[in-house]
Amino acid sequence: MGKEDIIKKGDLYFPGEELKKGAQLKDEAIYQKAAKDPVKFWEELAQDLKWSKKWEKGFSHDPPYFEWFKGGKINITQNALDENLKERANKPALIWIPEPIEEQARVLSYQELLREVNKFSNVLKKLGVKKGDRVGIYLPMVPEAIIAMLSCARIGAVHSVVFSAFSPAALKIRLQDTGAKILITADGYYRRGKIMNLKENADEGVKETEVEKVIVVKRAGNEIPWQEGRDLWWHELVKDESDQCQPEIMDSEDLLFLLATSGSTGHPKQIMHTCGGYAVQAKFTGKWIFDWHENDIFWCTADIGWITGHTYGVYSPLLNGITTLIFEGAPDWPEPDRWCQIVDKHQVTVFYTAPTAIRMFEKYGEDFLKKHKLDSLRILGSVGEIFDEAAWYWYFEKVGKRRCPIVDTWWQTESGGILISSLPGMGPFKPSFIGLPFPGVKIDILDNKGKSLGPDQQGNLVILPPFAPGFLRGVYKNSKKYLETYWKQYGKEIYFTSDAAYRDKAGLVRIVGRVDDVIKVAGHRITIGELESAIALHEDIIGCAVVGKPDEIKGEVPIAFVVSKKTEKPVEQLKKEVVEQVKKEIGPIVLPQEVYLVEDLPKTRSGKIMRRILKKLFTGEPLGDLSTLANPQSVEKIKKIVCG
Ligand code: WTA
Repeated sequence: MGKEDIIKKGDLYFPGEELKKGAQLKDEAIYQKAAKDPVKFWEELAQDLKWSKKWEKGFSHDPPYFEWFKGGKINITQNALDENLKERANKPALIWIPEPIEEQARVLSYQELLREVNKFSNVLKKLGVKKGDRVGIYLPMVPEAIIAMLSCARIGAVHSVVFSAFSPAALKIRLQDTGAKILITADGYYRRGKIMNLKENADEGVKETEVEKVIVVKRAGNEIPWQEGRDLWWHELVKDESDQCQPEIMDSEDLLFLLATSGSTGHPKQIMHTCGGYAVQAKFTGKWIFDWHENDIFWCTADIGWITGHTYGVYSPLLNGITTLIFEGAPDWPEPDRWCQIVDKHQVTVFYTAPTAIRMFEKYGEDFLKKHKLDSLRILGSVGEIFDEAAWYWYFEKVGKRRCPIVDTWWQTESGGILISSLPGMGPFKPSFIGLPFPGVKIDILDNKGKSLGPDQQGNLVILPPFAPGFLRGVYKNSKKYLETYWKQYGKEIYFTSDAAYRDKAGLVRIVGRVDDVIKVAGHRITIGELESAIALHEDIIGCAVVGKPDEIKGEVPIAFVVSKKTEKPVEQLKKEVVEQVKKEIGPIVLPQEVYLVEDLPKTRSGKIMRRILKKLFTGEPLGDLSTLANPQSVEKIKKIVCG
């Protein structure tokens, strides 16, 4: 038996002795200990961080609001950067891989990263940014993205990152909601060999917002529009700046960042995360779930525009003093094995990606894998979508060569960090099941009336107090949304995740899918409402319904049914325009795969569109009783269009 073998027992997999021996956590007693007094448990973990003043109270609860480590004073960058200078000043903190093969990787040691962060912190201060001010970041995966985030955190400003593939219209809404006066962007970046002109989008997006200054990172050297007085080059601003800047001492409960997630009415929600609790959860979930040791090189493939990029691309690895690797491009460009080349060349030890990427790699066949060793890998992670058995086995066998534990991690933008996962030193790893709640996290699965369900019974996944320190503290400037979305279903003390799930007899959780109108397209979270609002803006469209259709690679893809005004336009053109409309309002990431022009949408007598019925056209389920519809004949007609 090899040193790091995984042992199979029935349908479960466990770490072998060697793996167990070296693991951060190997004693299952931690689960009981944490469950006995979760607040005390998290407080013990919090002591591992550097606080300028210790907190007075671990957890305070005024439902549906709560706080962690109240009275404590901390700066997350002091923990993520300064604290690492003592033992690892010259160790790589960040490895950046540009997309063009011929371009060199850029490596920043902890010391260098701190210096860059300090310089840019000073820049922001000089531009008048103060504690509590929001700063927009619309950057591709370049080192400056991380430097910008950390600089905000250093001076107590609140970063609000907008995914660089979002359209100008999507950027605009997010800037308006946060009231940012500064936007940090780039001239352009590489994607699949092309230069994307990000600055053009940024210019469009800042119109009708409060943005006064636009800081531009020179990345691709492409020609860009320039507004004198408003636009400033990053490299010119930092050139003569001091590389010293004291971290702002923050209250544990001060805002650290805002991150938007799709809202049900079409308007995104700005999720609020605070300093102290987030730092504690980010640090320990990373350390234990990815089993990090001093020399680990961690590659999280998520973009910093999403929560996974925030927590596991940036904060968690740096808080643990390990090396984080970020990549500018698409993992299968210019060849399907680009990601393997990166793993081998940079000796990546822990790889964290999404099922969509795994299914995509799988589709390319096996030959490309044979050229690569992939023997630096120790642990493989997955996040963001349901991880089906076929993809699980492919990842386990072909990438991890049956040596590497697979940690499937369940969490949300709202939870700030992972809540459910197995732990590498203990297991079990069970294909298509996530695992147990992280120590100190209490969950339940309830029926619609709030009754707790037993093994194999499917219901709604909820999180119980004390939740977790990194949980959201609210929806920015919208407490109504906060209440309605999370605390209405089961009252103000039970957090409703909107995921359906069940547990096996051992308590391992399996996610079934969302129960609200969120769909996950290649791991990107979007609501039906947001897609429909975008389409409704088209002048010829008078009705529309979007549903998620199961997709082999992307998990789900949006399908749009539209009703149009009388128009001379050819159908094909109208369909194209609908797709363009989504691209314009949201961006190219979640385009409808199919647009069907229909006469009428199935509606109840009270006028509610029955999306459930439309969805069944793709899942093959029986359509059920249509007699309650106001227009049952519409379904037959649509069926003919879809199924021929
Ligand atoms: C889904 C991503 C199955 C789930 C970190 C959740 C998952 C939503 C998993 C949050 C997983 C996340 N298995 N489904 N391991 N992880 N989800 O906010 O529906 O982008 O509610 O956060 O993704 O998506 P978000």
